[in-house]
Amino acid sequence: MRDLACIWHPFTQAYSAPAPIPIFKGEGAYLYSETGEAYLDAISSWWVNLHGHAHPYIAERIAQQARELEHVMFAGFTHPQAILFAERLLACLPSGYSRVFYSDNGSTAVEAALKIALQASGAGKKILSFTGAYHGDTFGAMAAAGKNRFNRPFWPYFFEIHSIEPPTPGREEFSWRAFEKILDGEDVGVFIFEPLIQGAGGMRLHSAKVLSQMIAMCRDRGICTIGDEVMTGFGRTGSLFACDRLDLAPDILCLSKGITGGFLPLGATVVRETLFASFLSPDFDKAFLHGHSYTANPIVCAAANASLDLLLSEESACARNRIACAHQEFQKRWGSSSKLLRCDVLGTILALEYRPEENLSEKLSLLFREKKILVRPLQNVLYFMPPYCVSSEDLNKIYEVITMTLA
Ligand SMILES: Cc1ncc(COP(=O)(O)O)c(C=O)c1O
Repeated sequence: MRDLACIWHPFTQAYSAPAPIPIFKGEGAYLYSETGEAYLDAISSWWVNLHGHAHPYIAERIAQQARELEHVMFAGFTHPQAILFAERLLACLPSGYSRVFYSDNGSTAVEAALKIALQASGAGKKILSFTGAYHGDTFGAMAAAGKNRFNRPFWPYFFEIHSIEPPTPGREEFSWRAFEKILDGEDVGVFIFEPLIQGAGGMRLHSAKVLSQMIAMCRDRGICTIGDEVMTGFGRTGSLFACDRLDLAPDILCLSKGITGGFLPLGATVVRETLFASFLSPDFDKAFLHGHSYTANPIVCAAANASLDLLLSEESACARNRIACAHQEFQKRWGSSSKLLRCDVLGTILALEYRPEENLSEKLSLLFREKKILVRPLQNVLYFMPPYCVSSEDLNKIYEVITMTLA
């Protein structure tokens, strides 16, 4: 009742939404209500959690850092945690990236990437993106993804973009001619995409081969490419980053979500040295004049370093592999169910697209809520991406409930 009296929740129609579930504690893959009811978090709390809730190692590193230095402005000052994380992150990424620009979340990581790309590519250039994309809720990120039902009130304020259907794997009819025509129209300066899988757009997979070729064609024409790895980064898709599976890495990468293991908000926009160097000038106005009050906050960067320690461990690699294998087994047994239009697995992500049915999303949400498993279907797409610490027993619990919907 106290929540309903004072809180405005995101992505929620308060007129009709059920009251939110109050959560008081998190541990491993579980969230606990005040009365101790346990909810299995099958979607990693909006895709941010990697190693389990309230992981003691990250919590301890945050506490240590909070006692040493809680904040310092990041223009004119720096600090060890930000430097260390940038060095370690660059070492994990495909070669060629050399600079990390910090911000606060996925949308700001994208916003910074777009502004860097547009400032570098010169006035009047347009952005190209995939239909069905989602890059965040700030204005640039919304406009770059294109018009959809979620951003309808803001359409009159959007800048103009080009868009093209993403390359579905196995479908060879990707329209190269349409793509080439857009690129050669000479007004495209930036191509932004979620590599390998579109998240909020319905967990739709893309062909890595076609995407690699698209990046190569952009590079030939001097068009800046941005890989939005806000969802796919930090092990979700089977490799550490989705761009590890492309023949050619994009010019800019956007990272957030799992970057701190789900503890604190942080965004990182990673670029190559040539792009960074193109901003160097005796003229102050040629710099990238963008920043946020909490940019590279030391406590947040300490959480990122701690999360990276866990992510790079043998144990985490084995856990991700175990989840991927379990998902593949499930896919083999149930993927061709007549209730489904598709069943896809990409690393630790399992996505099921059901044949459309009235109120399907509500029905699925209700069933899983009754079974105390947290999910958030995207219309008729039900997906699972649990924290990497999820047990095989808990995965089986998830699969059991899914099979009830397929009978
Ligand atoms: C691919 C992608 N980009 C950007 C964002 C925006 O991130 P945030 O919600 O942290 O602003 C999201 C969020 O779901 C996302 O999936």
